[in-house]
Amino acid sequence: MNDTFLKACRGEAVDHTPVWLMRQAGRYLPEYHAVRKNYTFLEMCKTPEAAAEVTIQPIDILGVDAAILFSDILVPLEKMGAPLEFQEARGPVFLEPIRSRAAVDKLVIPDPEADLGYVMDTIRILRKELTGRVPLIGFSGAPFTLATYLIEGGSSKNYFQTKKMMYTDPQLYADLLNKITDCTIEYLKAQAAAGAQALQIFDSWAGVLAPRDFAEFAIGYVKRIIAALKESGVTVPIIYFANNGATLLPQSLESGADVLGLDWRININDAVKVVGSRVSLQGNMDPIALLLPEEKMEERIANILNQAKGARGHIFNLGHGIVPEIPPAKAKFFVETVHRLSRKG
Ligand code: CP3
Repeated sequence: MNDTFLKACRGEAVDHTPVWLMRQAGRYLPEYHAVRKNYTFLEMCKTPEAAAEVTIQPIDILGVDAAILFSDILVPLEKMGAPLEFQEARGPVFLEPIRSRAAVDKLVIPDPEADLGYVMDTIRILRKELTGRVPLIGFSGAPFTLATYLIEGGSSKNYFQTKKMMYTDPQLYADLLNKITDCTIEYLKAQAAAGAQALQIFDSWAGVLAPRDFAEFAIGYVKRIIAALKESGVTVPIIYFANNGATLLPQSLESGADVLGLDWRININDAVKVVGSRVSLQGNMDPIALLLPEEKMEERIANILNQAKGARGHIFNLGHGIVPEIPPAKAKFFVETVHRLSRKG
């Protein structure tokens, strides 16, 4: 198997820098649309053969060093009892936002195999179909990011309802976050048991919090998830990605993750100054910089590789997900250039 990704996660020597792209299975690929046109987004998440097919597309098309399960961070919340829709114009919508004691108390902790078996089946199919070509990454959202969707009822501009609950009813907020945390522990354990070879926790909206609020209202739940996974015998590397989290790095380091993901708003050499050799780092080219002319993109990739030389391990990635407007040829050039510039000997 091409295990450069797993080696870099663990800080072991590699012959090239591994690379994958957040949201690599998605709408920038015509091959994705060809499958997606037969299903709604949620139907596709719940159809293991289709989910597995689009997971493998970027391995074949781009030559990335890891596969990431095709699913969404929001699917376990539906099984907690919060009806979910993906609307073409608005994105994800929770039809009954969770803002009251009664609503929080009604949420249940799903049984991952019984209630989210389609995710575990997708993982099992993928482990067979990937035939050891590249490792498979499973994932979840982080409790704070998941809570924002439940409390706001969807995406948000200023997270008013979430912060209102945090500041005015901290007990209700803590009870909600603890339920999401318990759900996520079981969900990630089941993914590892089904065959996921690494796990990424996406904290897409952590960056809207002041450092003291991140400390009080967000990172502790991530720490509890990682500790519970490790205590239960999960040994696969765990990546924690706090988007817009440059100022939150010292606290993110305490999460217990093996790898920290970085967005593009920090230079990797500055991140190394904070984390030392305690974790590997993943990132961090601006996703829209995929539009740069090839020479300029190459120069930028070289610069990031150079910045990452002091890191314990480096997994190249974008600083956030690839967007639908990017021509696939640009993504392919990005992957090839990371490989070419980082290959030793
Ligand atoms: O990375 C991958 O290729 C694996 C698949 C994956 C998806 N969503 C597929 C998806 C992963 C890892 C996610 C995670 C996810 N989902 C996050 C965290 C990462 C991040 O971007 O910060 C978040 C915040 C979500 C919630 C979500 N899902 C939103 C806000 C939206 C609508 C906006 C958008 O980007 O489309 C989605 C939909 C979604 N998730 C799509 C895909 C491929 C597009 C659905 C479609 O085909 O119409």
